[in-house]
Amino acid sequence: MGIGRLAEADAQMLRTQSAPKASAESEAGKSGKLTRHQKRRIEESMVHLDGGHSDTNPAMRQLEKEHEESTKVKNISRIQLGRYEIDCWYFSPYPDGYAQETLYLCESTLKYFRKRKTLAAHKGTLKSKTPPGKRIYEDMSNSLVGYELDGKEHKLFCQNLCLLAKLFLDHKTLYYDVEPFLFYVFCERDSEGAEHIIGYFSKEKCSMEDYNLACILTLPPYQRKGYGKFLIAFSYELSIKEQKLGTPERPLSDLGQLSYRSYWGEVLVELLWQEKARKQATHSTVKEMAMQTSIKHEDIIQTLQSLGLIQYWKGQYIVNPSQKALDEHRKQMSTSIAKRKVVFKPECLDYTPPTFKTPSLQPGASPRPGGGGSMR
Ligand code: ACO
Repeated sequence: MGIGRLAEADAQMLRTQSAPKASAESEAGKSGKLTRHQKRRIEESMVHLDGGHSDTNPAMRQLEKEHEESTKVKNISRIQLGRYEIDCWYFSPYPDGYAQETLYLCESTLKYFRKRKTLAAHKGTLKSKTPPGKRIYEDMSNSLVGYELDGKEHKLFCQNLCLLAKLFLDHKTLYYDVEPFLFYVFCERDSEGAEHIIGYFSKEKCSMEDYNLACILTLPPYQRKGYGKFLIAFSYELSIKEQKLGTPERPLSDLGQLSYRSYWGEVLVELLWQEKARKQATHSTVKEMAMQTSIKHEDIIQTLQSLGLIQYWKGQYIVNPSQKALDEHRKQMSTSIAKRKVVFKPECLDYTPPTFKTPSLQPGASPRPGGGGSMR
């Protein structure tokens, strides 16, 4: 996923390389084209999938299977977004007629265009060149700004964001039902004040399962610089402010899992190390650690187990790691911390948790807002 300069005249344009792992490609996939029939079946099955009755209905199971097969076919080879040309990793359900080699996206609205000149004309009509929504984070030393968007108020932008995200996500995703979600979008501000989208995460307004993050993406040109960990830290900071425990929605992608494991490990090792430095001993319980970090108990136990820092004894978990074990983990982690471009800075956050009514579980009602659908 390195970035290489294009040899053509448009020297400003950077292009990112392709997917981290290969997806199975059919004949149609190799040519990058879908038949009209395939596209229609995808659209139809997407609508049905939202209803979520596939467990019991054989016809639905068949459609889901077909949907899975057809969405293995990458329909857009690359996108142009700002100064980057980015190779796409997966299928995304952009409407009929937009499946093509290069799709042109507006950085400010995420609207998509078949032609470069139509995008240029669109840009000329824009009054604002920043994402919509409320600015809640501003770190001038890193030229990083963050916005909170309500899926209900900024429906089109959020739908376009989901379509963009799906190009880099292998999971089943909802694209149109964005209203039950908040979106946290982050941009890099350049020397001329223009903002370039880096990544985002979405979050259910009311989660019955304590999910504090539904879907996370760092755009490929910005990956492996620490933005993913920054976004995860941000999501936990919001949970701390809400005084809630949180966990990411499952399943996690391979890259999601790597990032979360690493984030949880770092936060918990640092917490235990600091405590040991203060008190010469560690007496933390999982519950206390959860309250300090907003990380859910299960995630804490699993992380500490994988790091060998917790024991199960006489029906309870004991967290009493040796100084040596903590020092070793901390030393290992310090190398990647030093390489990171950004870290979350609490003083840059200006945020009050919004309040939403928790949906009631009426008989027949969906247990989750958005008709039981998830963003992934
Ligand atoms: N190979 C190996 N390790 C990797 C890779 C990679 N390709 N990418 C990230 N990592 C590791 C990093 O080394 C780092 O670990 P470390 O700090 O211990 O060294 C950790 O993962 C996080 O790295 P960041 O630079 O902070 O994360 P990044 O900005 O690259 O974003 C993300 C991570 C968001 C998962 C990104 O890879 C992405 O957008 N992927 C595509 C979409 C996706 O899979 N999203 C997650 C779906 S699950 C969910 O949404 C709940």
